[in-house]
Amino acid sequence: MFDVIIIGAGPAGYVCAIRAAQLGMKVCLVDKRKELGGTCLNVGCIPSKALLESSHHFHMAQHGLGAHGVRVRGAELDLPAMLGRKDAVVKQLTGGIGMLIKKNKVTVKTGWGRLLGAGKVDVDGEVVEAKHVVIAAGSTPIELPFATFDHSTILDSTDCLSLPAVPKHLAVIGAGVIGLEMGSVWARLGAKVTVLDVATRPVAIMDEDLGNEAKKLFEKQGMTFALCAKVSGIEATKQGAKIAYTAADGSSQTLEADKVLVAVGRKAATAGMGLAEAGVKLTERGVIETDAHYQTNLPGVYAIGDCIAGPMLAHKGEEEGVALAERLAGQHGHVNYQAIPWVVYTHPELAGVGLTEAEAVAKYGTVKVGKFKFSANGRAIAVDATEGFVKVVAHPQTDELLGVHIIGHNASEMIGEAACLMEFKASAEDLARCVHAHPTLSEAVKEAALASQGRAIHS
Ligand code: NAI
Repeated sequence: MFDVIIIGAGPAGYVCAIRAAQLGMKVCLVDKRKELGGTCLNVGCIPSKALLESSHHFHMAQHGLGAHGVRVRGAELDLPAMLGRKDAVVKQLTGGIGMLIKKNKVTVKTGWGRLLGAGKVDVDGEVVEAKHVVIAAGSTPIELPFATFDHSTILDSTDCLSLPAVPKHLAVIGAGVIGLEMGSVWARLGAKVTVLDVATRPVAIMDEDLGNEAKKLFEKQGMTFALCAKVSGIEATKQGAKIAYTAADGSSQTLEADKVLVAVGRKAATAGMGLAEAGVKLTERGVIETDAHYQTNLPGVYAIGDCIAGPMLAHKGEEEGVALAERLAGQHGHVNYQAIPWVVYTHPELAGVGLTEAEAVAKYGTVKVGKFKFSANGRAIAVDATEGFVKVVAHPQTDELLGVHIIGHNASEMIGEAACLMEFKASAEDLARCVHAHPTLSEAVKEAALASQGRAIHS
C-alpha cells in the first residue's frame, strides 16, 4: 500500500513524486514509457531546444559570422549527427530523472495506468493501491478532422523532431509555439517554410506587439505567413500534400508542400484511463475538472499538469506537482497563476508574463506602458542582437507590474526577473530602481520600466 500513486512521469508527475517522497510519503510513479520525463523530455521541450540550438549554429555558420569578421566556407549540414546529438541530450536528461527518482526511493512501474476507483490503479494487470491517486497524464497533439496524422507526410510535432531529410517545402498549420519553433528549425536547415493560421498574427495568445514584431522578423528570415487562413482540407499526394484553404481575402487557395506539420494545439491525454468509468468528471474535451487544490470530484483522486485547465506548460505542471504534494502532506502549497512565464524559443525569442497590454487596458482602462528597443542597448549592439524590444505594463494608480513582454535574444532568461518581481507584487518603479549589471541585455528591461515612469535614460 502506497501513500500516493501518480500516473504520468512528465514534469508534473515526476516533480510531484519527488516532492511527495521528500515529505516522507511512499510513492509509486506509473508511466507507459520506460524513459521518464514525459512529453517535455522525450518529444517536446528538450529535443526541440537541442535542435533549435544546433540549427541556429548552422545558420550562423552560413550567414551570421561574416559580420564578426569570421569567414566560413563550405559549412555543411550533417543531419544524422544533429539528430544524434538531440537524442543523446534526451537520453542524458531522462536518465538523470531516473536517477533522481531512485535517489528519492520512488517505486516506478512501467505500464498503462487505469483508474479502478478511489485508491486503486491497474497497471497492465497489476492492481496497485494507495491513499491518494494523482493523474498527471499530460496531453497529445490535436488532429484536424480532415487530416489524419500519417506520420510521413502529415506530421505531428514528434515526427518533426526526427525528419530523415530536410523537406524542400514544409507547410505548418498553426503559427503557435510549436509551429514557430519547428518551422524555425527546418527553415534554418534549408526548407522553404509556409505557416498558415486562422488568427491575425502569430502566437495570438501573447502581447499583440510581440506577435506583430515576430511576424516581421520571421519573414525577414525567409518564412512565409498566410494569416486569417481557414484550412479546409489536406490531401496527401505522391509528391507530398495539397492544402486547401480560404485566404484572408476570401479566395480559395491551394498550397503544395512535401511535408505538413499540424500544430493547432494539444488536448488532455485522458482517454483510455478509466476515468469516466470510475466517476471522475471530465469536460467535453476530456479535461479533468478539479477544484483550486487539484481535487477531482472523486475523493482521494487528484489531477495536475496538461490534463487539467490552464496553460500547457511544463513549469506550470511542475509547480502544481509541488503544491499538490505539499497539500497531501498537510502543508499549504500554492501556485500563482498570474506569474507564469511563457517562452517561444525562436531567434529572437519571445517571452511574456502577466497581462498583455490589451488585457491590462480591458481590466484597468488606461495603463502605464514603457517600451525599450534592444537597438539602443550597448550589449545588444556588441553581440549583434539588436532585434526586438521590452514592454513593461504597470497599474495606472498603484504602479504594480501587470505584465512584462520581451522579444529579443535570450528573452527566456530575462523574463525570470519579471516573474520573480511580479510574484513579490513589485511596482514598475521597483524594477526601474534595481541595479542591473552593465553591459547586459537585461538593462533593456530596466529601461522599459523607467520608460513606463516617463524617464528612460537611453532613449
Ligand atoms: P498553440 O495553441 O500555441 O497554437 C496553435 C495555433 O493554431 C494558434 O495560433 C491557432 O490560431 C492555430 N489554429 C488552430 N486551429 C487552426 C486551424 N484549423 N487552422 C489553422 N490554424 C489553426 O498550439 P501548439 O503550437 O500546437 O502548442 C501546443 C501547446 O504546447 C501550447 O499550448 C504550448 O503551451 C505547448 N508548448 C509550449 C512550448 C514552450 O513553452 N516553448 C513549446 C511547445 C509547445
